[in-house]
Amino acid sequence: MKTEKKFYEMNHEERLSFIVSRTNLTKKEISTIVNQVLPFENIDRMIENAIGIFSLPLGIATNFVVNEKEYLVPMAIEEPSVIAAASHAAKLSKFFGGFKANASSSIMRGQIQITNLLDIKNSTRIISRNKDDLLRIANSRSKNVKALHLKTRILNNDIDNKKMLVAELYVDCKDSMGANTINSMCELVGPEIERMANCKVILKVLSNYSTERIAISQATFKKQELGGPDIVDRILSAFSFAFSDPHRAVTHNKGIMNGIDAVSIATGQDFRAIEAAAHAYASRDGKYRTLTTFSKSPKGDLIGRIEIPLSVGIVGGISSVHPTAKMGLKILGAKSASELACVIASVGLAQNLAAIRALSTEGIQKGHMKLHAKNIAVAAGATGKLVEIVSETMYKQSNITLDSARTILQGLLHNRTYKSS
Ligand code: MEV
Repeated sequence: MKTEKKFYEMNHEERLSFIVSRTNLTKKEISTIVNQVLPFENIDRMIENAIGIFSLPLGIATNFVVNEKEYLVPMAIEEPSVIAAASHAAKLSKFFGGFKANASSSIMRGQIQITNLLDIKNSTRIISRNKDDLLRIANSRSKNVKALHLKTRILNNDIDNKKMLVAELYVDCKDSMGANTINSMCELVGPEIERMANCKVILKVLSNYSTERIAISQATFKKQELGGPDIVDRILSAFSFAFSDPHRAVTHNKGIMNGIDAVSIATGQDFRAIEAAAHAYASRDGKYRTLTTFSKSPKGDLIGRIEIPLSVGIVGGISSVHPTAKMGLKILGAKSASELACVIASVGLAQNLAAIRALSTEGIQKGHMKLHAKNIAVAAGATGKLVEIVSETMYKQSNITLDSARTILQGLLHNRTYKSS
């Protein structure tokens, strides 16, 4: 009986055809965009002092089922093993139905820093009294994204120990990331506050620490699928190490961000904003900890959970001007920003589970180095079929280094010259 080819067994053409069969993209659309080099005039509009393009490999993680919907997940990343690891963990999660995720709120804050206050309490009162007017001004230019609340907070200035006031707009970004709209709102409201509260307004900008925009995803992994009860215990032990030690937690979270950044880049998100918020959130109890947690179910299966701020959008921003990011969103097929956040969080969890399972059993170098060996073979000067032969030989000899690649290559080339002479 002929079994269906796995995505990783397909050639390039077959992979594109597979995506066409699962999305409403045409093959022409996909192949022109995937192979497209952005014209200089486009990149010159995106950034200043443009000189060219920096490319990254774009791949697809398979097996993802999030809230009972199947996804093909685009990932842009240069690191080997990441996509295979995410796909594998996603497959393991399928036994209990995949990932259950939620990202209900799309509220972000815009911050207005208020200084030079003679009477901080009185200024706070004036701002509160005029809240409705300030919200009306904030909302005067934007049709969809709306500021819902304006709150004030008195802060201690940790530099001079004086008091500082911050007015915060709570903005419902809906399906957009919201940065531009929030920044514009803050810049509209700032001068009004300055006028009415007899103060000096300095900063007017969104906060990327999107604590109101949290995505949570959870999955249960059957103990037998993971390799047995001992492996579950090893994974729990690895988790407790990372939860207790910031030096390990940073690496643990780096593994999570391998997945989160890769999907974010492929779908045109601001991955720097996501990174910054993630690490601040990891420190929310005063100590830098893991963004995932793991526990054992009463039957001994492993329960994994991720909780992470994710300010993502499917409208506006780079996702509407970059053709590959647009296509990434289409391949993923998320109909809302919160659906996208649910998938991204699930990829982060899958990535982490795969990493700590490998680390707590056979280690990561074996799988990682297999693909990396090919890069080393190329770096040593191998071309064509020699890439495969040099990398396979290094892998078999468990010695994947540039020196070893050079020696093997020289041997092969020498033999070839010898035979043909
Ligand atoms: C490598 O890019 C990521 C890992 O180091 C993550 C981890 O240690 O958990 C494998």
